[in-house]
Amino acid sequence: MEEEHHHHGHGHGHGQQHWNERYSGAPRLFNSEPDESLVEFVSDLTPGRAVDLGAGEGRNSLWLARNKWQVTAVDISDVAIGRLEAAAKEEGLGIKTVVSDIVEFLGHGELYDLVVLAYIQWAAEERVRLLKSAAAAVAPGGHLFLVGHHLDSLGKGGPQQPERLYTEESLKDAFPGLDIVVLERIERPAGDIGMHGVDIVAWAQRPSAAI
Ligand SMILES: C[S@@+](CC[C@H](N)C(=O)[O-])C[C@H]1O[C@@H](n2cnc3c(N)ncnc32)[C@H](O)[C@@H]1O
Repeated sequence: MEEEHHHHGHGHGHGQQHWNERYSGAPRLFNSEPDESLVEFVSDLTPGRAVDLGAGEGRNSLWLARNKWQVTAVDISDVAIGRLEAAAKEEGLGIKTVVSDIVEFLGHGELYDLVVLAYIQWAAEERVRLLKSAAAAVAPGGHLFLVGHHLDSLGKGGPQQPERLYTEESLKDAFPGLDIVVLERIERPAGDIGMHGVDIVAWAQRPSAAI
């Protein structure tokens, strides 16, 4: 998986053309199973409004919708969103889809009971801003779930630029207003397609509004 470094209009990670080219190069780019940590954390919750930021082909959005969440899936790639819509239709699931840059989308100020960020590997200030605005989109009592490639994945899966990878240190103060409930490093065995390496998982909650 080659990840060249270049700048473009938005400055957010890679642009629409980059991602459309990657998706168009394969009938399916990422696996279809939902993230297992997401499943673990979310299974105990009462379904509400969820947003999947950078949803891709929609493995997590589809699982949430199957489990009665009211899902909005946002991605900059219309190719990926097209695949997600086709899969949702086939299963008879209603998912609201938005082709947009994540940060632009978050600017609308909507609140969600669950905010999902799965493998969004931005660098530096772009990432700081992304995580801050994702945290701001969590409703009182709601949760944020993040899974991504850990710095220890260098030489294994994911982007091979250290600045795009996560560490525990880089996440512990990244979500203003939220309490971090879980912050853990997960080793993914080789042979797990597209996932080989080390991941980081964060599960955070905004305290419920005081009565
Ligand atoms: C590695 S994929 C992960 C997809 C999905 N979250 C999953 O776990 O299967 C990263 C996704 O982020 C999307 N993306 C990248 N930059 C984006 C941006 N600025 N705004 C919205 N989506 C973006 C890409 O199109 C791609 O679908």
